[in-house]
Parts: sequence; C-alpha cells; structure tokens
Amino acid sequence: MIDSFVAAPADRLEEAYQRLVGALWRDGLPTEQTLSAVPHLVACLDQVDEVRQGHLAILLGLLAEVEYPAADGKVHSAVRAGLDRYLTLWRSAPKGQGLSLALHYLLAHFPDDRRRILAVADELGLEVDDRSRLDRALLRFDPDDPEPQIGRAFPYPTAWEMDESERAHDRAQVKSLTAEQVEAQWHKDTRTVLGFTGARAYWAVRHGSPAPIEPDSLPPRYPDPPEADIDVFRRHQAAFRCPNCGGGLEFRPGSARCTGCAGEYRITRGMLDFTASAGGTGGADFLSQLVKIPTMAHFIESKARPNFKRLCGFTWDGPVTAAFEEKLIAELVRPVEGPVLDVAAGPGGFTLALAKAVGHERVIALDLMPQMLASLRHRLPQVPAVVANARTLPFGDGTLGAAMCWNGPHAFLYEDTAPIFAEIGRCLRPGGTFTTYSFRDSEDPIYRYFVASHHFPQSEHGLRMYDLDEFKGWLADAGLVVREESAIGLAFFITAEKQAPGTRG
Ligand SMILES: C[S@@+](CC[C@H](N)C(=O)[O-])C[C@H]1O[C@@H](n2cnc3c(N)ncnc32)[C@H](O)[C@@H]1O
Repeated sequence: MIDSFVAAPADRLEEAYQRLVGALWRDGLPTEQTLSAVPHLVACLDQVDEVRQGHLAILLGLLAEVEYPAADGKVHSAVRAGLDRYLTLWRSAPKGQGLSLALHYLLAHFPDDRRRILAVADELGLEVDDRSRLDRALLRFDPDDPEPQIGRAFPYPTAWEMDESERAHDRAQVKSLTAEQVEAQWHKDTRTVLGFTGARAYWAVRHGSPAPIEPDSLPPRYPDPPEADIDVFRRHQAAFRCPNCGGGLEFRPGSARCTGCAGEYRITRGMLDFTASAGGTGGADFLSQLVKIPTMAHFIESKARPNFKRLCGFTWDGPVTAAFEEKLIAELVRPVEGPVLDVAAGPGGFTLALAKAVGHERVIALDLMPQMLASLRHRLPQVPAVVANARTLPFGDGTLGAAMCWNGPHAFLYEDTAPIFAEIGRCLRPGGTFTTYSFRDSEDPIYRYFVASHHFPQSEHGLRMYDLDEFKGWLADAGLVVREESAIGLAFFITAEKQAPGTRG
C-alpha cells in the first residue's frame, strides 16, 4: 500500500492516498496494520517528493491522534520517533505552503517536545494565529491549574483579546464546572485546534497556499443600540402575532401587548423580546454561556466567522468574500408584498446587505441572542429586532414577503432545522422566497473528521454539516420549492419559493 502510494503517477495520487489512509485509519481509530506501518511511513518521508511528503505528514498526524487523550500510546510513540526528521523538514519547507502546514499539524501532537518545536516555530516566524494554535496544542492538561484557559480555542486562542470584565465572565462559567467537565472541555479545545490546523493543511497539500483570512468587518466592540421609534414595529403590525395565542399585537413605547391573551412583551433598545414566554435564550452548556459576552458580535465578524467559512466551505483560497455574499443576497432575495425576515440575523452584517437590497423599512431581524442583536441595532437603527427562537416565529400564516437565513441553519441544533424551515414556510406568502447559505458535509472522511473535531455551542459532540438531499427534503416538507441553487466548495446557496396551497412545484 505504501509502495503504491510512493509510485502512483500524479493523476492517481489521491486515489492511492485514500487507499493508504483507509488501510491505516478509520474515522479517528487505528486499524490492525497501523502500528507496524508507522516506521515505514516515517522512513518514506526521505524518499518522496514534496507533495507526497505533505500527504504523509497529514497521515502521520492523524495517526498520532488515534489514542488521544492518552499521550503514551504505542502508535503515538512510534510517530513521535520521527521527530528529528519532521523538524529538519519543517525548517526547509517553503513557508505557508502545503508541506509546511502539514508538518505544523503533525508537530502539534507532541506536547512532550514543546520547547524544541516552539523554538523552530520561532525561527520560522509563524503567523500570530498559527503560533497561537500550535502553542495551545502543545500544552498538557494541568488538573491543578486554578484558572484553566478553556472554551476559547476557535479560531485561535489569542484571537480572544479579552478585557477584565470578559475574563471575569469566563472565570465565573469555568467555576461552575466540575473537574471532569473542565478536563473534557480542555480535550475538546485541543481537538478543535488540531482539527482546524489539519483541515487547512489538508487543503493546502492539494491546492497550494491558502489565502490570508481577513476580518469580514469590524463592528464596534461595545455597541450602543438606541431605543427604537415604536413606529419601526407598528409598520409591521399586520404580520406580528402573539406566539402564545396567535392574537394580534399592539405596540406602545417599551412593550407590545397581545390583543387576545393580554400577554406583554418588552421592547428594550429596539429589541422586542419573546424569549420570556417561549423558547429561552439558548443552551445552558458551557460554550453557550461563553457566547454571552456583550462583545461576541465583534469577535464573530472580525475573527470567528471568516475562519469558520473557510473551514466549513473547504474554501481556503477565499472565494466567498463579503462582497460576493452581498451581491448574491441582492440577486436572490425577491420579496412579494410583506416584510422581509432575516432569521438568525446575529450581528447584522448580512442584514445590512439585505436592507440595502430591499430597503431597511421592509426588514425585520430575528435572533435568539440579544447580545448579537445589540450590534445589529447599533448598525441598523431603522430595523426592528426580535429576540425569539425561530422554532416559534411570532408572525401570522402567510404574512412575510421573503425570508433569509444566511450562514445560519447550521447554528440551529441539527434536529431543529426541519421545524424551523416549517415555521418559515408557514409564515411566507405564496411566491415569497426563502434564501439560505449553509454547508454540506464533506464526502472525504479525512476532511469530515477535521470538521467534526470542532466543538461549538451548537455542536457539543462535534461539528456536523448537512446532507444536501435531507436539507432539501426539509424545504419541500415546508412547502418550499427550490428555484436556484449553487455551490462553492462545500458552501451552498439555495433559494426556494413558497407554493400557494394546492399547487405543485
Ligand atoms: C453563526 S451565527 C450567524 C449569524 C448571522 N447570520 C451571521 O452570519 O452573521 C448564528 C446565530 O444563530 C442564532 N440562533 C441559534 N439558534 C437559534 C434559534 N433557534 N432561533 C433563532 N436564532 C438562533 C445565534 O444566536 C447566532 O446569532
């Protein structure tokens, strides 16, 4: 198997590599042949070209991980035996290209050699984000650390330049965890860092240098949203419904009142909050709590989202730019009469593009988290913001002219996507469009493994993306017929149209 990988012509290399990997590694676990094969793989590094060296370094990294979190396993030790070779190669590999990134991934598995590895990293002058990930991967868990740094591993630990109040928020959350939970989170963080490093290296060994990752935008760190003129809500009075009884809502400064059940919903800083009556404000797990710092929107747009899109899209050359996304929103969202809803609008970067395309007076933004909507309100003071769970949309049947959920569905728990699409389908008028942008799972087990190594609030057990047929099935079940569909890498863009009752697409 190793020989046929070494001898494979360039156009059969991927096939030979997949066969080799399949024989030695299955979804993160070793096979019977793994241990005996490792010394041959290490020796092989001296006999092959740079592209093959990159592929081998990725495979050795995957194998160094099969016993994680154990650090003294036989396979790990066998891979570690090649350390001198890896460091020599790393010194001479062209910086920022496939082989160098693959060796970085491989070397990130040896915390016992931390000092040696970081010394070479410093000679090479790694970028800040890479240095930060490597540094974190090479730390061992210390059960006696009174202040364990956990939960801020993505996109890289030093992205989180937190102030004292943010650090205090994190400390309080960490304190509420048991020792077992702290340790489990530590290992999830390590996996996240390794998964990101591996994913980018895997792309780079086949495609070349990844493009630098720029911030999508830089929303203010501490947004200061204004109170809303109550007319921004009244404008859409015909669409709003009480989520409890379906009655209409009347708006007055500071609150909305149901004309049916007399329920009251508060409006603060332009945000109409339905979460007290329905749905809660997100999960109770540790990572969901960390998201609740007031500056989260800033970190998302400047650091987390640009990295997330590369990772999930397999688009490390960066074709899905902010300008591309804005143009696509303008092309795809085609409302009929009625308000246009941005579902899971978050910090509002895409809501801005939507407002530009259809006019801010038509837009309503909805999200589960007021911390995110504060940033949106700051940027778009004319747009009413609704704090609600999209599983229960506070709008009447057939009242919305269009809806958008951009870089959003994967933030719902996987099992929530179908019911949320059903809600969107219920609220759209016939002919109204639902436009969405999300990601599908890679068919390649190695890349899927790297993505699944990421732990986010919505994916406690590892990040999962969609099966496209299943995703489209949920749209169909919601009465939405796909009208436009395109993809770049694993990113997909779909626009579906609400059918009139009794019609067929
Ligand atoms: C990845 S962010 C994307 C936000 C925005 N579309 C963007 O790309 O900037 C996902 C957002 O979904 C929101 N969210 C998650 N589950 C939700 C739910 N059930 N209902 C409404 N919003 C939800 C989160 O609060 C978060 O702001």
